[in-house]
Amino acid sequence: MIIVTTIPELRAARKTLAAPVGFVPTMGYLHDGHLSLVRRAKAECKSVSVSIFVNPTQFGPQEDLSKYPRDLPRDLALLEAEGVDLVWTPAPADMYPPGFQTWVEVEGLTTPLEGAVRPGHFRGVTTVVAKLFNAMGAEKAFFGQKDAQQAAVICRMALDLNFPTEVTVCPTVREADGLAMSSRNAYLSADERQAATVLYRALSAAKAAYDQGERRAEALRKIVTDIFAAEPLARLQYISCADFDTLQEVDQLTSKTLLSLAAFLGKTRLIDNFILE
Ligand code: PAJ
Repeated sequence: MIIVTTIPELRAARKTLAAPVGFVPTMGYLHDGHLSLVRRAKAECKSVSVSIFVNPTQFGPQEDLSKYPRDLPRDLALLEAEGVDLVWTPAPADMYPPGFQTWVEVEGLTTPLEGAVRPGHFRGVTTVVAKLFNAMGAEKAFFGQKDAQQAAVICRMALDLNFPTEVTVCPTVREADGLAMSSRNAYLSADERQAATVLYRALSAAKAAYDQGERRAEALRKIVTDIFAAEPLARLQYISCADFDTLQEVDQLTSKTLLSLAAFLGKTRLIDNFILE
């Protein structure tokens, strides 16, 4: 496994990889969700590359950039065991040289949901992913449905800017009790970890109602709010029923719908979603 940091090192190493290259961008502190993307890349491509970079520009001033969990030796061991060919661990100065002033912004899709409560977040994500895509020059890239809006925004960006990298979105990997795997789960206390199943429980209850024919968005949102109301350690930030393609809120579910939410467990903010179709 080749490990590189600077862009010139990356470009040299990239040339040695057999095509097609499957690329998995991450912020590290890897779990089975990340590794599921690596395995999918491995199954579909001749070579697999992974980036590990905690991107400062996608964190708000009050967010967890400085505390974001990191364990590079462990991450590298996990990737080595998966048979990854190339790992790129840029330093902030490699990605944001002095005088940096070029940004990539996707418009409509970034306005609701995460975009509404995390101003500037997607501008940081699309800018760094555009830079990662440019530098890596991979034929394919793999993202998780866990971050549904991010996946939609990246697909849009890749299309709008004619990136040659084909984007694939892979299913959310969960713990045995349904909690979506996330690097941020590491912040949870034992009590909060137990309470965190409320995200999955609430989404599952809404999906059960949908499966039984409920098509009113307000009724589905209420199922979720009621279940959160019974969980004192959790605070629901938003619950959304949105059209899957536009991410605009709907009244009636008539086509593929993204049911998504964000919640706080203490200071830890978690997101999750189900697709209803
Ligand atoms: P990070 O949170 O490290 O996630 C890296 C990739 O793993 C993303 O595509 C994310 O959706 C996927 N992922 C995370 N948890 C998952 C789970 N439980 N099941 C399936 N996939 C999961 O997302 C980012 O980093 C950053 O925003 C990044 C795209 C790297 C840009 O900085």
